[in-house]
Amino acid sequence: MSMISHTPQWQALQQHWEEMREHHLRTLFARDPDRAERMRLSVAGLHLDYSKNLLTDETLRLLLELARAADLSGWQTRLYDGEPINVTEQRAVLHMALRNRSNRPMVVDGEDVMPLVNGVLARIERFVGEVRSGAWTGHTGRRISDVVNIGIGGSNLGPKMVCAALSPYCSDQLRVHFVSNVDATHLVETLRGLDPETTLFVIASKTFSTQETMTNAASARDWLLAALDDSGAVARHFVAVSTNTERVSAFGIDTANMFEFWDWVGGRYSLWSAIGLPIALAVGFERFVELLEGAHAIDEHHRTAPLERNMPVLLGLIGVWYANFAGARTHAVLPYDQSLRLLPAYLQQGDMESNGKRVGRDGETLEHTTGPVVWGEPGTDGQHAFYQLIHQGTQLIPADFIGAARSHHELGDHHDKLMANCFAQTEALMRGRTLDEARAELRAAGLSDERVEALAPHRVFPGNRPTNTLLMERLTPFTLGALIALYEHRIFTQGVIWGINSFDQWGVELGKQLAGVILGELEGGSAGEGHDASTCALLETYLHLRGA
Ligand code: F6P
Repeated sequence: MSMISHTPQWQALQQHWEEMREHHLRTLFARDPDRAERMRLSVAGLHLDYSKNLLTDETLRLLLELARAADLSGWQTRLYDGEPINVTEQRAVLHMALRNRSNRPMVVDGEDVMPLVNGVLARIERFVGEVRSGAWTGHTGRRISDVVNIGIGGSNLGPKMVCAALSPYCSDQLRVHFVSNVDATHLVETLRGLDPETTLFVIASKTFSTQETMTNAASARDWLLAALDDSGAVARHFVAVSTNTERVSAFGIDTANMFEFWDWVGGRYSLWSAIGLPIALAVGFERFVELLEGAHAIDEHHRTAPLERNMPVLLGLIGVWYANFAGARTHAVLPYDQSLRLLPAYLQQGDMESNGKRVGRDGETLEHTTGPVVWGEPGTDGQHAFYQLIHQGTQLIPADFIGAARSHHELGDHHDKLMANCFAQTEALMRGRTLDEARAELRAAGLSDERVEALAPHRVFPGNRPTNTLLMERLTPFTLGALIALYEHRIFTQGVIWGINSFDQWGVELGKQLAGVILGELEGGSAGEGHDASTCALLETYLHLRGA
């Protein structure tokens, strides 16, 4: 297939943008009373309003033509059929099997993987039941009070984000902590105040070879053994989540205490697998299953709904519209829900590690933009930090606003105030304020004509800043599962349009290799040859300051 940016469908969208850039959303709403009604969609407890986007029915028609030119439906079929669409690693991409609550067969290499998935889920259920009931005790017979998940990237961000999001469902009896950074501060500060006799470590690593995780795991083991002074204690205080049995065993963890997953589960798509063990420990197995159910509901929608009514497809295409035709370079995720404070960080890995690619599936260098920078913070804090630039800066920043109608904490009028801000921001971003409106306001405030003219340009908001709004009744395990799966399939949609492999991550390898080389030199006390002058000088300075 030719590069997508060489197709007539792409060129039609380029031309269309030249027309659309002259329109204002105010006018689009004024001319089209049904716009908001038409441009909304509800699936799996998620209610999407996409009417505040810089688009018309014609834009959507052209974007859908582009999706057809990229054979999006064909790729969806290949995805769910377990074909090895991760071409560089020759792997299937089948994290949907992990949450396939229908239990219909899902096949990789001719084998239905559902019995494997269900087998591990049954082991998780048993183990979680034992730990939460107190039947599983530490080496000295005491009940587990704290779980420390040691993992990084996909083996950390997903479970950490979900545990924060579901904090109202978390047990007070069992606290769950996350250590990811190889910076000793992270481990030391987490372990401070924990009791080795009542602490359980979950060592989570798909490969069981990641430097940060292995270093933290070894130090955690030292911490435990320094207190309990019996190597037999490891079996009661360490469990592993991995695809690599040999390495788990070599580390000293009994493989009876290992929860397996498979190479068709990408790290950043793995929270649905045994990587979700800390989630199940925190909220209970039943709630974990509800999370899977929410994601499954979106999978079924993604798999079966026509492209024009397919929520992740529409969101993906709208993102393509901004990235490739309107020149947007970033995408903001703005949860109006404190529990979703880690969602932007989670999506940074999900989106940027997936779609931060510069060559197509066939290795050809792309001529079009791919994944945007994804970023965000919860409202309302963000309003008092960076929203100024979204409103009046020179860049176009499409944003997703996410909120729930009901809070888990009914406290006075906090929640209505929170959501009033959410709706006000999207309205302000869309409408803006014209020069005449700014002048009228200033005059009404009694300012002189001279002051009105001086101040009015600063108080103009161009508006026309696009947003999606996603609402749910309440943030529950089910709606959270649906929300995460929605973003996963949005990422997939965009990867297909851009013609890239969203499921490898070679870009993180070079730094890892060089870090290995430099570590050897730091241990040897001198910078080796072959570095550039800047790196050499930095290493020498470091060694000097460190006191080599
Ligand atoms: O950052 C690169 C990466 O390979 C991620 O894709 C992955 O989630 C993370 O490292 C951790 O890998 P592992 O689970 O194998 O320790």
